Amino acid sequence: MTGIALVTGASSGIGFHIARQLASRGYDIVGIGASERILALPDRLPQVKVTPVRADLTDRGQLDAAWRSFEELGVPLDVAVLNAGKSLGGGFVDTDLDEELHMLDLNVTSQLILAKRVVRRMAEQKQGRILITTSLSATTPTPYESIYGPTRAFMYSFAQGLREEMREYGVSVTALLPGATATDFHDTAGMQDTKFGDNSWKNDPELVARLGVDALLAGRDHVVGGDRNTRWSALRNKLIPEHVKARRFASDSKPHTSK
Ligand SMILES: NC(=O)c1ccc[n+]([C@@H]2O[C@H](COP(=O)([O-])OP(=O)(O)OC[C@H]3O[C@@H](n4cnc5c(N)ncnc54)[C@H](OP(=O)(O)O)[C@@H]3O)[C@@H](O)[C@H]2O)c1
Repeated sequence: MTGIALVTGASSGIGFHIARQLASRGYDIVGIGASERILALPDRLPQVKVTPVRADLTDRGQLDAAWRSFEELGVPLDVAVLNAGKSLGGGFVDTDLDEELHMLDLNVTSQLILAKRVVRRMAEQKQGRILITTSLSATTPTPYESIYGPTRAFMYSFAQGLREEMREYGVSVTALLPGATATDFHDTAGMQDTKFGDNSWKNDPELVARLGVDALLAGRDHVVGGDRNTRWSALRNKLIPEHVKARRFASDSKPHTSK
């Protein structure tokens, strides 16, 4: 056994494939998800010990209980993957404010609360590896997902700052920046009526997860998750002005039926 990995959003998509990659490399898994899907994780990863924890991370009581469930295992925390997240598509003028605030709770606030616990634990242990799933959307304005992109930019910047602080404790922090990936994500965001609504052209979540776990275990600062086109987009985003990127992003994210 290599150690224990805590993975949020392990019930589907990129998080599930990250858990599977870690399991294939010998890590036992503590997997967190909000719906009952998480309860199937032990059957899906039979080769290692899997502890499923059902918790809505936007609920402070449930988040605290999830952390206690991990602590009660009485084991060191070798790897933590802060991955659970969601988006909301549509023009800001139309979208529901409460849904946007809920997204901020999940994508930013819950990640910070969990990160605080994780880094204190790993600092005491003087070892550990942290992977934070952000997005290529951290590197561009994201019209028609106008709150989502800033949540990913926040976490990307946080990850890079935290990485520097944690070096003296022997703890590495890696940011994973996936490009568009074929998961439930854009469906959950209500973006069926956009280019992102079609999963056929997007990155394979297995590839994205493998790149993320390779970077995590190598202690890299960040990795772009995706194919050649995705890596090219990441490079292009460093070079072109924000207003040009905004226009390009809108052509993919704007609902076909909107004016
Ligand atoms: N797919 C993309 O195109 C893409 C691109 C760039 C970055 N990302 C990032 O990748 C991460 C994972 O997304 P994905 O594509 O794998 O999406 P996904 O397939 O929809 O998976 C989301 C995961 O988060 C969990 N989750 C959602 N709300 C939660 C809550 N309140 N409490 C606890 N867990 C919750 C879900 O669990 P349930 O089973 O309970 O629903 C699920 O396991 C996100 O942070 C996203 O920003 C995705």
